[in-house]
Amino acid sequence: MKKTVKEYIQSIYPQDEMLDKVKAGIIKKGMPNISISPGFGRLLSMLVKLSGAKQVLEIGALGGYSGICLARELGKDGNIISLELKQEYADVAKKHLAEAGLGDLVEYRIGDAKDSLVQLEKEERKFDFFFIDADKENYPLYLEWALKLGNPGAIIAADNTLMRGRTYDESIDSPAVQAVRRFNEQLAQDDRLQSTLLPAFDGISLAMIK
Ligand code: DHB
Ligand code: MG
Repeated sequence: MKKTVKEYIQSIYPQDEMLDKVKAGIIKKGMPNISISPGFGRLLSMLVKLSGAKQVLEIGALGGYSGICLARELGKDGNIISLELKQEYADVAKKHLAEAGLGDLVEYRIGDAKDSLVQLEKEERKFDFFFIDADKENYPLYLEWALKLGNPGAIIAADNTLMRGRTYDESIDSPAVQAVRRFNEQLAQDDRLQSTLLPAFDGISLAMIK
C-alpha cells in the first residue's frame, strides 16, 4: 500500500516513547486528542534550541505534549510558564512533564489566560518564546500580549492558523475563524514582526519580534 506523507515521515523517525505515552495518557483521560503533530513538536524543540530562548510562555497546556517539546531543548536554566484553563488538564500535563524528567522547568497557571497575562505583566515577566495553542477566539489578544511581554528577538509560534481550511474559506464566518484571520493578518502586516505562515499540519505560524 502506498504510504501517506504522514506515514512516510513517521516511518523514518525513531519512536518517541515519551510522547507516545503522553498521547496515550491524553486519550485515557478522555481529553481531546488534539496535541500538535510530531513534526511540529520537533520544530518547536529546534526553535527553542536555535533561539536560545530561556523564558517560555505557553498558552494552552492540554496534556503536556507541546510542553515536553518546548522543555526538551530549554536547558536547566530555562523556565516555562504554561497557562491552562482547566485544572484537570494542567494536572495531566504536570504529571507528563514530571515523567519526562522535565517537571522542574514548568510552572502551570490555571484559569482564564487573560487574567494570568495581566498577572504576568504585573510581575514584570518577559519572555523569549511564545507558543499559542488555546481558544482560537482569543488569538488576536494573545498576540497583543506576546508583543507586550516579548523581549526583542522573541519567537511566537501558533498552532491551527489554517483551521482545517476554514481560515481561507470565505463562505465560513464564525467568531473563531474571524479571530484567526485577524491574527494571521496582523502577523503578516505588523511592522514590529517578521513572520511566515506555513501550510503544514493545521497551519503553523511563526513570527519574530524585531
Ligand atoms: C482543534 C485542533 C487543535 O490543535 C486545537 O488547538 C483546537 C482544535 C481541532 O481540530 O478542532
Ligand atoms: Mg492546536
